Amino acid sequence: MKVRPLVDDDVAAAVRLHLQVLNMEFLSRFGPSFMSTYYRAWRETPGALSLVAVDDNDVLVGVLLGASAPATHVRAMVRTHGVRLATRLALYALTHPRIARELIVTRGRRYARGLWRLLGARLRRSTATPSVQVEPVVGEITHVLVDPHVQGQGIGRALVTAAIDQARVSGVDELVLVTPPDMTARHFYERLGWQLEGDMRSRSGEEFLRFRYFLNEH
Ligand SMILES: CC(C)(COP(=O)(O)OP(=O)(O)OC[C@H]1O[C@@H](n2cnc3c(N)ncnc32)[C@H](O)[C@@H]1OP(=O)(O)O)[C@@H](O)C(=O)NCCC(=O)NCCS
Repeated sequence: MKVRPLVDDDVAAAVRLHLQVLNMEFLSRFGPSFMSTYYRAWRETPGALSLVAVDDNDVLVGVLLGASAPATHVRAMVRTHGVRLATRLALYALTHPRIARELIVTRGRRYARGLWRLLGARLRRSTATPSVQVEPVVGEITHVLVDPHVQGQGIGRALVTAAIDQARVSGVDELVLVTPPDMTARHFYERLGWQLEGDMRSRSGEEFLRFRYFLNEH
């Protein structure tokens, strides 16, 4: 088994595994077409942490997504791929009205604000000078998933370790992540040295545990 960067040819297999392993998760509700666009957009945007684990036959057995500077990454992703992602989402919503209603209720206002800001920034062609960063650089892991047939064999650990190494090279001081409390991932992250910081509730009412990993202490 080895861990390597996720490439375009991995996207179909990564999406299949994502839908299989995290089928109740937010992204999975929008189907394989939207997810493929999302995976491609994520990976192509600078600052992405996007890794796969493959077995000796180059079959994909694990995926990790994250970002070394999440806010910058998501802004750049929306700037470059936002229209394509929104179109895919709209097409899906047209044929799945229940999901569309849920999306509008839980995230509609936030997404509209984001698009408005994006349009404003495009019109202004921002001339702002970048500020000097004095805060710790905080990266994020958003998804880790391993093929159920090979869980418990060190693949998740290898993916997270590779992401930590990549984040460290990118100058990240801390990594954060959230995970649902009812999933066994809690013990996995604790075993890997992550610190449980507490819980939180998302805008759509889901409960999550918050974890943090300090890169300079290890
Ligand atoms: C959580 C997940 C990524 C772990 O990957 P994995 O390859 O099975 O885990 P590893 O074999 O690398 O385990 C690493 C360590 O964590 C421990 N661990 C893993 N899962 C555990 C569990 N459910 N309970 C207790 N310890 C666990 C292992 O014992 C191992 O410790 P050790 O090396 O000291 O023996 C994988 O089980 C998975 O995909 N789960 C479903 C999706 C998910 O929950 N993702 C996280 C939320 S996004």
